[in-house]
Amino acid sequence: MRCFASDNYSGVHPEIMEAIVRANHEHAPSYGNDEITKRVIGLFKDLFGEPCEVFFVYNGTGANTLGLSAITRSFNSVLCSEWAHIHVDESTAPELFTGCKLISVPSVHGKILPEAVREKIHRIGDPHHPQAKVISISQLTEYGTVYTPDEVKALSALAKEHGLWLHMDGARISNAAASLNVSFRTFTRDAGVDVLSFGGTKNGMMFGEAVLIFNPELARYFHFIRKQGMQLHSKMRFISAQFEALLSKDLWKRNAIHANNMAQKLAAGLQQFPGVKITQPVDGNGVFAVLPQHVIQPLQQEVFFYVWNEKLNEVRMMCSFDTTEEDINRLLQKLQSLLNA
Ligand SMILES: Cc1ncc(COP(=O)(O)O)c(C=O)c1O
Repeated sequence: MRCFASDNYSGVHPEIMEAIVRANHEHAPSYGNDEITKRVIGLFKDLFGEPCEVFFVYNGTGANTLGLSAITRSFNSVLCSEWAHIHVDESTAPELFTGCKLISVPSVHGKILPEAVREKIHRIGDPHHPQAKVISISQLTEYGTVYTPDEVKALSALAKEHGLWLHMDGARISNAAASLNVSFRTFTRDAGVDVLSFGGTKNGMMFGEAVLIFNPELARYFHFIRKQGMQLHSKMRFISAQFEALLSKDLWKRNAIHANNMAQKLAAGLQQFPGVKITQPVDGNGVFAVLPQHVIQPLQQEVFFYVWNEKLNEVRMMCSFDTTEEDINRLLQKLQSLLNA
């Protein structure tokens, strides 16, 4: 039964599964020396322009943690939103691998703004204090909102002013691109992002993410960092084949547009109920809403989703490439009956 818990609850898109099956043929060189991997690195370079170093990893935590490892030293700090996945949902992997301190910046709808980040860039040069080196943002944010290219540029300008790097956690980068209706590079490298985690799992892949580094100097040691970080997949072609299916026929876009549209429908349906309040702008495939407390548990039993903020009774409902209008109607009908009861 489909639910709204997360976009990683959904299975694998059939076109991706077919690509995995097609790749399961004969022998192929391991560790990324196969032909599929070479082709897909070419696809990423076409999308993002050169220079662009591309490294595949297993998961988002690995992409973020190792991407940050490439651009920090252990006396540095990483500035990110208080809701950032790296801060609240990756255990202490970023701290363990980078040795850095993560410093949270208060956000507005999950987005950090330059004024708030600027306040955390202090005591530079003071050996007693963690030295800020990276601003990390999530696109979409953990609250389902999207940074415009100009908002990314403003953070990049601040980063450059202070000699910091700009990192982007793009676990939902396709939903962001579909929402903004611009190319990937417009709000990443062209907006000043230095290191990007490009997500695949939340948009129909079985597993696999990519770390993109736009400055070859920063990518210099990444091969070692990835191996040391246990994210070098020996049968790499099975990650690459998935990305090839995702990128080559605009599957990324079809999936993301669908998930985003479903979120709009869901939000419109929820909004009709008095007592239900949409709390965050619905820019991508996530809907955040406050529900009357007594309906949350029984509704979860029917169609699961997560409570995001217990104090506020705020829930998160994520749509995916395979969410259907029937799924939404089922949830809305159940909600209606609980509210009427
Ligand atoms: C914003 C964000 N970044 C990264 C990830 C990737 O996490 P994982 O390590 O589970 O692939 C997620 C998954 O929930 C996420 O929501």
